[in-house]
Amino acid sequence: MALFLWLDLLLLLLAGVRCTSVKNCHAGCRCEVESFGLFDSFSLTTVDCRGLGPGAIIPVPIPLDTAFLDLSSNALGHLTDNMLAGPGYTTLVSLDLSSNHITMVSPNALSKLRYLETLDLSHNDLEGLPPGCFFGLPLAEVDLSHNNLRDFNMGAFVAKVNSKPVSVDLSHNKLVSISTTPHGKLVHIQSLNLTANHLSGIPRLEGLEILRYLSLDGNPIVAIEEGDFAHLTDLVFLSLSSLRQLWGIESHSFKGLQSLQVLDLSNNPKLKTLRRSIFTGLDSLQELNLSGSGVTSLPHNMLSHLPAIKSIALGQNIRCLRTQKQGVFHRQLGQSQHYEVLNCNRDSLAL
Ligand SMILES: *[C@@H]1O[C@H](CO)[C@@H](O)[C@H](O)[C@H]1NC(C)=O
Ligand SMILES: *[C@@H]1O[C@H](CO)[C@@H](O)[C@H](O)[C@H]1NC(C)=O
Repeated sequence: MALFLWLDLLLLLLAGVRCTSVKNCHAGCRCEVESFGLFDSFSLTTVDCRGLGPGAIIPVPIPLDTAFLDLSSNALGHLTDNMLAGPGYTTLVSLDLSSNHITMVSPNALSKLRYLETLDLSHNDLEGLPPGCFFGLPLAEVDLSHNNLRDFNMGAFVAKVNSKPVSVDLSHNKLVSISTTPHGKLVHIQSLNLTANHLSGIPRLEGLEILRYLSLDGNPIVAIEEGDFAHLTDLVFLSLSSLRQLWGIESHSFKGLQSLQVLDLSNNPKLKTLRRSIFTGLDSLQELNLSGSGVTSLPHNMLSHLPAIKSIALGQNIRCLRTQKQGVFHRQLGQSQHYEVLNCNRDSLAL
């Protein structure tokens, strides 16, 4: 018995078994089945129903075991409770609803998608999201870029009680553990894309401790304040680029971002000066991008606040890299000290 099992495993490894076939599918859609394993024991169905045109049947009929569904460019408008409720929808892992002129999402429109990890709602007309609309979904990646959101808060992830939203006070950091919902389900979001919306401030994301990627590019954010990112301890990549209105960053604004490796502050023309204390707490930061911003010089001795920094981009094509410099010879110590400096490809910028 054990021998057969090993033989199976061996065959599986040898063949690297993976094959793709095209399956019969709803008119206008294209269904592809990728099979893995011996005897095709495991398969993933990808369904592409982009741009079906007028008269499309909604919900679009899809095969029962569909994992990936692309419903982009279908002018869905208002996403109602039964548009994503047909057979096949419960097994979806990834759903693309981009470019659909979606103006509204009904509170339970997504509630049947119990395995959904990736959701693309980009390039729609959303002004807000109803409380609880993401509740209970194992979402890891949400793209809400290019919408009209004026606000984004944790309400979307919180359970509704008797169809009334749980009241959540998001001010003054009173929200202790939204990451564990009443049913013990975690909020799993690792990537949140809020590029090109109408947010005028940094959204409060107190329950998203495991978030690794956040983009707030192209929003009318005016200022960044102390504590704005305090809870995002796992964040690795933060993009705050093309914030045309941003004129100030308060001291200690990035405190708490202990895992952050990349900070993009490029193309922020109103941002003119940076105080050194802005950079406190950025212990892992490797790359800082200030190109195309109003900042033309860097605060003196900023390296002391950025122990891991490797590269800073500034102005037009100025690039500073960390290098080791040999210091003056110390008579008493009998050796010369090495110290690290940022070396820029522009002489006027000695740091
Ligand atoms: C976020 O959205 C913008 C605009 O749609 C896109 O260019 C960018 O690649 C997205 N980021 C990720 C990580 O998907
Ligand atoms: C900095 O940002 C600019 C504009 O977004 C981009 O073109 C450039 O490649 C970035 N530089 C680095 C070093 O990431």
